[in-house]
Amino acid sequence: MNLAEKIGQMTQIERVNASREVMKKYFVGSVLSGGGSVPSKQALPQKWVRAMNKIMKGSLSTRLGIPMIYGVDAVHGHNNVYKATIFPHNVGLGATRDPNLVKRIGAATALEVRATGIPYAFAPCTAVCRDPRWGRCYESYSEDYKIVQMMTELIPGLQGDVPSKLKGTPFVAGKTKVAACAKHYVGDGGTVRGINENHTIVSSEDLYSIHMPAYLDSVAKGVSTVMASYSSLNGVKMHANYPMLTGYLKNKLGFRGFIISDWQGIDRITYPPHSNYTYSVQASILASVDMVMVPYNYTEFIGILTDLVNKKVIPMSRIDDAVTRILRVKFSMGLFENPLADNSLADKLGCQEHRELAREAVRKSLVLLKNGKSAGELLLPLPKKAAKILVAGTHADNLGYQCGGWTIAWQGLSGNNLTAGTTILKAIKETVDPTTKVVFKEHPDSGFIKSNHFSCAIVVVGEPPYAETMGDNTNLTLPDPGPAVIKNVCRSIKCVVIIVSGRPLVIEKYVPKMDALIAAWLPGSEGQGVADVLFGDYGFSGKLARTWLKRVDQLPMNVGDSHYDPLFPFGFGLETKPSHDKRIES
Ligand code: IFM
Repeated sequence: MNLAEKIGQMTQIERVNASREVMKKYFVGSVLSGGGSVPSKQALPQKWVRAMNKIMKGSLSTRLGIPMIYGVDAVHGHNNVYKATIFPHNVGLGATRDPNLVKRIGAATALEVRATGIPYAFAPCTAVCRDPRWGRCYESYSEDYKIVQMMTELIPGLQGDVPSKLKGTPFVAGKTKVAACAKHYVGDGGTVRGINENHTIVSSEDLYSIHMPAYLDSVAKGVSTVMASYSSLNGVKMHANYPMLTGYLKNKLGFRGFIISDWQGIDRITYPPHSNYTYSVQASILASVDMVMVPYNYTEFIGILTDLVNKKVIPMSRIDDAVTRILRVKFSMGLFENPLADNSLADKLGCQEHRELAREAVRKSLVLLKNGKSAGELLLPLPKKAAKILVAGTHADNLGYQCGGWTIAWQGLSGNNLTAGTTILKAIKETVDPTTKVVFKEHPDSGFIKSNHFSCAIVVVGEPPYAETMGDNTNLTLPDPGPAVIKNVCRSIKCVVIIVSGRPLVIEKYVPKMDALIAAWLPGSEGQGVADVLFGDYGFSGKLARTWLKRVDQLPMNVGDSHYDPLFPFGFGLETKPSHDKRIES
């Protein structure tokens, strides 16, 4: 391979730039759909496959015909397509404590991603979120490293089980699996005050006992790629951190896949007024970044890296190491044998079997935090037969809110324009007895409540969707009109409050008003899972994988801390037994 061909392999560009001419001219090694730039969210898998193959044909028409690898953020299912199954975000999966479930979700996600002709998912997020103020808290399974570690089972789910003789090498078991990406290496969940991309300042002990263990498991399970974190570790930007990338990940852990940068991650090694892109390219490649996610200014990157190699600032051996790793992953996936996608998996996208799996995940992820105002007076499970039930709140009939960020759009959506999926309201209506009247009022005032006689109320409130820095939040209050809806409804009707959020919120003062309280996290497209448990077809079983705070001035506060004084402790979660015949007196 000549230098241009090698540097091309190290370059990942955005789909909007990936014309056949560009793929050919620059020997581009990889393409991604960032945050929502996809062929068409509404498109059938066949159209996606055609779009992927068009780009691939550009790669195949180069001198060496090396196939490109296309990646997407499939972080809770194939969240880039309207018709896909959207699984609960990781914060909810952590509450299930069920690695086998997560593995099955990985396998289903791989099929749905492959159905659209894509062989690479930027998942799992192996962050151990230590501060819920972080906008990516919901992408983390837990504040506890052991839970995050066990959920690396998503990797064999996505890629297939690595055969024991290949343990520790990148492995993807054929065309029904996808390459995975453990991210964001390392300490992304430990930034100061939970500020996204901020400094992580930790002792070696905390680094290796809290933030690192998931990477040991990921490497052992044959993860194909690792994404560097935007954050810095004790003052050194991770994208330029030679001891952590080369010294620890590659040399000590023996990681043999490739390290990918985050989106324009190398640009952030230096910043205004001292931005110096040449230095950033040099520092990141020398530190060990193998593939650079350089969506737009790729020609500048290619030019600078070429110069640095020609001037021997970056040795050819480093470039060869990067390219060897990238090709190793491509070979391990069978991309050379089967570069073109086909339509054989089209019927897997959003199929019933996957929706059932997502529904199971929702059921297991719900955490029952309160059940009854006083001992002996349990409210849940609710009976299916009642005179009239009020359903209230902004999150009761909003699929976009239910799914959260990284769903169709980077920042998520509001409303029900996902073509498939069930809102919590719809699920309630479908679950209750046909004689039970369900009345929905998003924001009922006291006049409305007085003029009706309800058997009970289900209030569904929470956070609107967000992603990354846009989700950083210093106060963690329950957004309006949540508090007013709880106050209006719960003062006169027996009420169950369901919080739909990516993290614990400050709700202590509202809890006494509620008869029952459920943390539903971000359950995804299958709201039916909520109704399954609410009405007793299944029992509640989820346990908090995050400490539920009382006040933000307690943060950071994690299980095991000396000042631990939570509203609900890590591991808490009431249980109920399935029941089918309880009745509410109306
Ligand atoms: O994979 C993501 C990463 O988690 C955050 N920045 C953008 C990447 C690609 O979309």
